[in-house]
Amino acid sequence: MEGKRILVTGAAGFIGSNLVDALLSQGAVVIGLDNMFNGRMENLESAQKNKKFTFYKGDIRDYDRLLHLMRDIDIVYHEAAFTSVPQSIIMPQLCNDVNVSGTLNILNAARIRDVEKIVFASSSSVYGDTPTLPKHENMKLDPISPYGVAKQAAEAYLVSYNRVYGLNTTALRYFNVFGPRQKDSTYSGVIAIFLAQIFEGKNPIIFGDGKQSRDFTYVKDVVRANILAGLSKETAGKVLNIAAGKPIGLTELTKIMIQESGKKNIDIEYTSVRNGDILHSYGDMNLAKQLLGYEAQYDAVSGFKEYLDYYKAKFNL
Ligand SMILES: NC(=O)c1ccc[n+]([C@@H]2O[C@H](COP(=O)([O-])OP(=O)(O)OC[C@H]3O[C@@H](n4cnc5c(N)ncnc54)[C@H](O)[C@@H]3O)[C@@H](O)[C@H]2O)c1
Repeated sequence: MEGKRILVTGAAGFIGSNLVDALLSQGAVVIGLDNMFNGRMENLESAQKNKKFTFYKGDIRDYDRLLHLMRDIDIVYHEAAFTSVPQSIIMPQLCNDVNVSGTLNILNAARIRDVEKIVFASSSSVYGDTPTLPKHENMKLDPISPYGVAKQAAEAYLVSYNRVYGLNTTALRYFNVFGPRQKDSTYSGVIAIFLAQIFEGKNPIIFGDGKQSRDFTYVKDVVRANILAGLSKETAGKVLNIAAGKPIGLTELTKIMIQESGKKNIDIEYTSVRNGDILHSYGDMNLAKQLLGYEAQYDAVSGFKEYLDYYKAKFNL
């Protein structure tokens, strides 16, 4: 990455900021863009101490801004998005404007500016609740939520822009990412929410019977996959799963979280299933291994242990 000039959209968000730090540590010159809809400046505290980093507050719906920022850019990592599945059910138009039209703006500006590589943050939500497991890239997509539909449409634009304009585009379908800097708001990932609840002495509440399973992916693995994809020619026009490749049931994981946290008198509670949620999900990792040489270095439990250490240190717990 030494000497590369990189634009990261959604740079003040959970994944974007972790990616920014990793790119800077590898010697890249990084421009971060975020409209602060869900981002936090504290996520960029260490990046802002680095002279090779510049942050701009701005919106991916502003095409002229993108065109301006993409002058002399080699790689674009497009992480900015309307990221909440439940909120996309309440605000599908806004979700489409940001996640579909915003992505199209990125592609159009990248094309005009001859950007070498565009890596897009897609999501396992494009698979929906199909019974086939593991989810493999070539299976029929059946998203349930407007968020999943928007990610599917954006992916299709990336593939199309590779075919018709020869842009080197790659979509990475992330599966349930977790780790440092993830928010613990109602709409965040379940591990961040439960961790905060456990330390507040509250019982974690699972939607459904807890038998649902997920392929929780530690943020460091996602960052590594992005760096590999950013430098890869083999993945042009491709869509790849990025996961740990190993499912875990939600009740099982929550019990481990409670135990590892060392907190007493915490019990799991259960409530009704959430609209748009899927039952089981885990990713087939063969294509990412074949094209990127990517293999996860963490599973849900080892990732959680590292996240817990970070969390305790951050809040002096
Ligand atoms: N976290 C996960 O488990 C997960 C799973 C699959 C896919 N993804 C995708 O990964 C990417 C990063 O997600 P995250 O978990 O870091 O979420 P996040 O909400 O922390 O980060 C997204 C960032 O995008 C910014 N943003 C939103 N709208 C914008 C706009 N119009 N213009 C500029 N910036 C805007 C937000 O302020 C935020 O900082 C997203 O594209 C998300 O859809 C995340």
